[in-house]
Amino acid sequence: MTEHLTLRRPDDFHLHLRDGDLLRTALPFTARQFARAVVMPNLKPPVTTWRDAAAYRERIRVALPAGVPFEPLMTCYLCDTSEPDELREGHARGVFTAAKLYPAGATTHSEYGVTSTAKIARVLEAMQEIGMPLLIHGEATDPEVDVFDREAVFIERTLQPLLSSFPALKVVLEHITTEHAVAFIDNDTSGRLAATITPQHLLLNRNAMFAGGLRPHHYCLPVLKRERHRLALRRAAISGSRSYFLGTDSAPHAATFKESACGCAGIFSAPVALEAYATVFDEEGALAHLEAFASENGSGFYGLPLNSGTVTLTRATQQVAPRIDYGNDESLVPFMASMTLPWQMVTPASSTA
Ligand code: NCD
Ligand code: ZN
Repeated sequence: MTEHLTLRRPDDFHLHLRDGDLLRTALPFTARQFARAVVMPNLKPPVTTWRDAAAYRERIRVALPAGVPFEPLMTCYLCDTSEPDELREGHARGVFTAAKLYPAGATTHSEYGVTSTAKIARVLEAMQEIGMPLLIHGEATDPEVDVFDREAVFIERTLQPLLSSFPALKVVLEHITTEHAVAFIDNDTSGRLAATITPQHLLLNRNAMFAGGLRPHHYCLPVLKRERHRLALRRAAISGSRSYFLGTDSAPHAATFKESACGCAGIFSAPVALEAYATVFDEEGALAHLEAFASENGSGFYGLPLNSGTVTLTRATQQVAPRIDYGNDESLVPFMASMTLPWQMVTPASSTA
């Protein structure tokens, strides 16, 4: 049995870092494991210009613990009014790595999002030309569509036509949750379509939201799906296919906002991210494919250099904290709170060379 696992330093290709106290609390958890992260732009107000993104990147750098090497990769929040030149300039200046398409109303802080992809056609043309990846929250927002069908309907009604209209646009379907998404990605032979997969969608099915009562800390968007879909995601993640890579979608919210009559969506997985993925790959007998998923496939797709340095995980039971306090009497409840995981990251001091 493998007891220690040393991987090339991984990247998180889908991360919410927030701002202020939340940023200062959440960031060290990510930076101790990951060399880089694609930082989501759904702040309030959202990050829509390269100047906003450069300023946010600076706040992230300032919030980093001293001596921890970590590179935030910034994204542009697309709106109906986004201008191609803003993206071109942000890309040329090395500020924007990618742009994020939130269908308006699909998820947390998506109210400024895109109401129809036709509205951003000029932006997508520019992105296609400069090779900038489009990151998609792939859920239909039509209120008639059942919440559990939103991803499948989005793929059919929106993603398929978008890919046909922009045949060279690089697209990442973020945080996929269904066998439909896996089939769609597997079907693509062009290499310009990829997907991120979160730890919660690999470890839990939708029963987890209702286990003994309503479990707000298992609520995220896209929502957890049935077991059949979880198994399809597992097969995809461990397959070794270069189209799948690590993106935690770690999304911290103050516990009071989650434990509420109208609790918000988002799971704070950063504290246990790599260990959670290792647990999945281990359970599937596929630890040999973890490094590709966590440390190679994403940078390959984005055209980024591979990281140097390594991280080491060891097979040792860890008890996950029930809560993490921050700010003024607020706390965050991490993914797998109060539960145990069979893997533990070794302190990174030796692994950040
Ligand atoms: C994210 C958030 O809280 O910002 N929430 C979530 O449930 N994943 C937004 C998102 O990625 O959909
Ligand atoms: Zn997200």
